[in-house]
Amino acid sequence: MAEALRVGIAGLGTVGASVARVLRDKAAELTRQCGRDVTVTAVSARDRKRDRGIDLGSATWFDDPVKMAQAADIDVFVELIGGDEGAARSSVKAALEAGRHVVTANKALLAKHGVALAEIAEKKGVLLNYEAAVAGGIPVIKTMREAMAGNSVTRVFGILNGTCNYILTRMEAEGVSFDVVLKDAQRLGYAEADPTFDIEGHDTAHKLSILTSLAFGTKIAANDIYMEGISNITQADIRAAGDLGYRIKLLGVAQRTESGIEQRVHPTMVPTASVIAQVHGVTNAVAIETDILGELLLSGPGAGGNATASAVIGDIADIAKSRPGFQHGPVFGRPAKELKPYKKAQMRSHAGGYFIRLTVHDRIGVFAAIAKRMADNDISLESIVQHAVGGEAEAQKTVILVTHETTEAAVRKAVDGITKDGHLTDKPQVIRIERAG
Ligand SMILES: NC(=O)c1ccc[n+]([C@@H]2O[C@H](COP(=O)([O-])OP(=O)(O)OC[C@H]3O[C@@H](n4cnc5c(N)ncnc54)[C@H](OP(=O)(O)O)[C@@H]3O)[C@@H](O)[C@H]2O)c1
Repeated sequence: MAEALRVGIAGLGTVGASVARVLRDKAAELTRQCGRDVTVTAVSARDRKRDRGIDLGSATWFDDPVKMAQAADIDVFVELIGGDEGAARSSVKAALEAGRHVVTANKALLAKHGVALAEIAEKKGVLLNYEAAVAGGIPVIKTMREAMAGNSVTRVFGILNGTCNYILTRMEAEGVSFDVVLKDAQRLGYAEADPTFDIEGHDTAHKLSILTSLAFGTKIAANDIYMEGISNITQADIRAAGDLGYRIKLLGVAQRTESGIEQRVHPTMVPTASVIAQVHGVTNAVAIETDILGELLLSGPGAGGNATASAVIGDIADIAKSRPGFQHGPVFGRPAKELKPYKKAQMRSHAGGYFIRLTVHDRIGVFAAIAKRMADNDISLESIVQHAVGGEAEAQKTVILVTHETTEAAVRKAVDGITKDGHLTDKPQVIRIERAG
């Protein structure tokens, strides 16, 4: 049997401790699958004394993960520290430069430095595996990088943040406000004390930027993503969506268009009957649309110690199964030096259907004025519904418009016009409709 694969784990928190536990509990099975033992020989974290509920056996402890990355007795450096700079970045870089394979779950690091790190890995002939960085336990990187050879991706989209999907699912099921569900999610540990990163779409954007690079062979462009979070979604939107046959999901979408690549993260209406609309709670899903395969949807646990550890261990097993001299596939599906510059499509030219919810004074002529603004901007309407808003001192109406395919520029212009007309009593709500099978 080949020599054991020696693994060093940096970061022994939620994911790191699970990885160490599973590697120990499933050692015999992994040996059978990989044809060699997989042994944890080194570990690193901040607090050596903390009880992590795992037996680290004879693994050498390192206070400094950079030193561990350079240590002679590891073949694979597993980075589970987190963050786009600091210890995570310096240790991953040190490991690659020392010729060690790297496995990481760190989307923030890859979104910012992925291409530069891939260049080092490819120069050194080592693997940089990151399955757990996007959609946790769902094997989407492997699917896109390996199982879809020859396919040209036209669109990739998904529910990439469990916290947002959990909040939207409960808002719909229980009819309660965003704020109430968020507080409960924080109490239950599904949302961070500072939830901004999740609910405003940053986490989804990091993951999307990695998928975009894999899908279209472009350099990662995490700063060029149009982003709207879910904090403005109200019960009125959720109810109206339901009445119209839609469900609201926070999606990350990357799409090839004539003017470039769209990368966008925003609340989206998807048909209630679509497969992605059935993805509830903290579950994640990724849909990949290609010329040969058509549409593929993968769904499953996007976070949590064990689910994430499953993806990390799959990456470690791939390294254990690889042989010296074997030419590994490039990190982002094509050599890092050949990744094309990212050509951004302007959001104004985004084409699609739109949901527009307006709260207006209940006066004669308002409805006609709204219809005129739409017509002036060549927006054709699929439906227009109005109903009275009860219990207010002044009579108000809600007008809900669903457009046929139009452009973002036209919708913005029409809604600006309606706002200027002075008919609105509240901020207008605009939600894009996404085609989904
Ligand atoms: N949690 C999930 O469900 C999930 C899902 C997908 C991806 N990820 C990614 O996985 C990574 C780890 O996440 P996590 O939830 O496991 O984080 P975590 O629970 O906060 O654990 C982080 C670990 O890193 C250690 N650490 C921090 N700074 C360090 C330093 N300078 N040197 C050495 N060790 C250091 C900490 O040590 P101490 O324990 O001693 O403080 C801790 O063990 C992140 O990149 C995250 O985005 C997490």
